[in-house]
Amino acid sequence: MRRQTRSIAPLWYLERGFRVPISLFKGADHNFQYRHGSVHMIAPWWQAGVIYQIYPRSFQDSDGDGIGDLNGIVQRLDSLAALGIDAIWISPIYSSPMADFGYDVADYCDVDPRFGTLADFDELLAQAHARGLKLLLDFVPNHTSDRHAWFVESQASRTNSRRDWYLWRDAAPDGGPPNNWISDFGGSAWEWDGATGQYYYHAFLREQPDLNWRNPAVQVAMHDVLRFWFDRGVDGFRIDVLWHMIKAADFPDNPPNPAWQPGMGEMHRVLQFHSADQPEVHAIAAAMRDIAGGYSATGDERVLIGEIYLPVERLMPYYGGERAEVHLPFNFQLIDAPWEARALARLIADYEAALPPGGWPNWVLGNHDRPRVAAKRGQAQARVAAMLLLTLRGTPTLYYGDELGLSDVAIPYERVRDPRELREPGLGLGRDPVRTPMAWDASENAGFSTARPWLPLHEDWPTRNVAVMAEDPASILALYRQLLTARRAHPALAIGDFALLDSAGDVLAYERRQGAQRLVVALNLGAQVQHLDLPDWAGGCPPLLSTIPGPAQIEGRALRLRPNEGVILAPA
Ligand code: NOJ
Repeated sequence: MRRQTRSIAPLWYLERGFRVPISLFKGADHNFQYRHGSVHMIAPWWQAGVIYQIYPRSFQDSDGDGIGDLNGIVQRLDSLAALGIDAIWISPIYSSPMADFGYDVADYCDVDPRFGTLADFDELLAQAHARGLKLLLDFVPNHTSDRHAWFVESQASRTNSRRDWYLWRDAAPDGGPPNNWISDFGGSAWEWDGATGQYYYHAFLREQPDLNWRNPAVQVAMHDVLRFWFDRGVDGFRIDVLWHMIKAADFPDNPPNPAWQPGMGEMHRVLQFHSADQPEVHAIAAAMRDIAGGYSATGDERVLIGEIYLPVERLMPYYGGERAEVHLPFNFQLIDAPWEARALARLIADYEAALPPGGWPNWVLGNHDRPRVAAKRGQAQARVAAMLLLTLRGTPTLYYGDELGLSDVAIPYERVRDPRELREPGLGLGRDPVRTPMAWDASENAGFSTARPWLPLHEDWPTRNVAVMAEDPASILALYRQLLTARRAHPALAIGDFALLDSAGDVLAYERRQGAQRLVVALNLGAQVQHLDLPDWAGGCPPLLSTIPGPAQIEGRALRLRPNEGVILAPA
């Protein structure tokens, strides 16, 4: 068979540590082939790769203040490369009073001194790139800090040129807030400003006033922020609360939520019908994509990931229609899904079916706002969940510490830091439990810091840490590494087609296929032994990987799954 070779710049390769041009061989059947045991892949990096979220306060402290920082991340890059991830997303590192730990930005074009300096950032970026790792920042466009110079001016007087950069409204006739909108952190979303006699809107804390994205000057200023970081070389952004960015122009009351119960938190008292997900948000997203696209033209693709908590049918439009929007509207469904085989199969099938043409899927098990997967599913199923996340079709985003099986850490009252918890205590809405320090080794403070960490460590850190677990082939860390290695070795896992397989009981099973390569993934979501009848084509596939030590068992045409076991079968 005669092969043609061609180089395609935006395509991505899996060899680490040195840059090689990507050569793909096109076979007679016009399918791309792989060489060197599938080292090269035929998809953009953000489709084939795995993203890893770092909460920077909690990853690694390098200067002994108990808070993680950029130089700390640099120290741990080799560990991340060894884990086998491909891109890092870092939660906000900009100048901030830290009312919401960085999601209240006072200067978008500088690094907060707690995290380091711009020079430290440049070094981190260079060091990440030197290891073949992409780096994404967290863009926070919906709101600024109330200490941002723009808001200080806006608040100065009704006639200030930046007054209209934020959302100011007169009081209702009774003197109360202009409407019934509720902050996501509880209480009215309107704050009275006595000096100028108007309310301003804040979807989150009162220290986080919302920008007015209907004002073209705001758009220009925020686009400049994107350019500032793209010019420095970042590979993309996760966009904070993208669906919140535009509100109904006339600010009508939101309808009450008939299903509301006190334990849900006050924000759910009303349905965010008019305060979020407005049609005009799509032009805003498309404009940001245009900017990213301009940079993609000169190298690897720059990627935009939208934080959007919406039902699937309202999520899909954020891929864009006539104009492209974000590459990946975050798909958070697995976090709250019923952990039951048939329900998960339906969820996956419905999501796949809802994707627009060309829309690339993505999956998430946790983040800095939501309960950890080990807390929700337990240690045994956390391993099954890891296999699910890393074998579904679509870009996976890992949350730091999940590779250690970190669970939610109980925070004593006097150590609570999260404003979410402090505003509505006791409802279990606080996020400190999922933001605790990473554990690197058994030395003081788990190698995270020489000082007392800003949040407590998990109790079993002397054994649940990277150094100890890396030596234990049965650890969840070892499993994550094996799964990430398997994705590299088997392009079908990273970018192949997906099809559910017939299964019964607690078994969720599917096929991944890329060209001639076909794999079976079978997950036992329960605590009893289960059997899966293998399809004919999979009869000869030996087990590649199990979530449980010891070989998976094939009995004739059936795969025997031990309790809480996930298995990948792959051609030898
Ligand atoms: C979403 C972020 O993920 C969360 O941590 C933050 O508190 C809010 N946006 C407000 O920025």
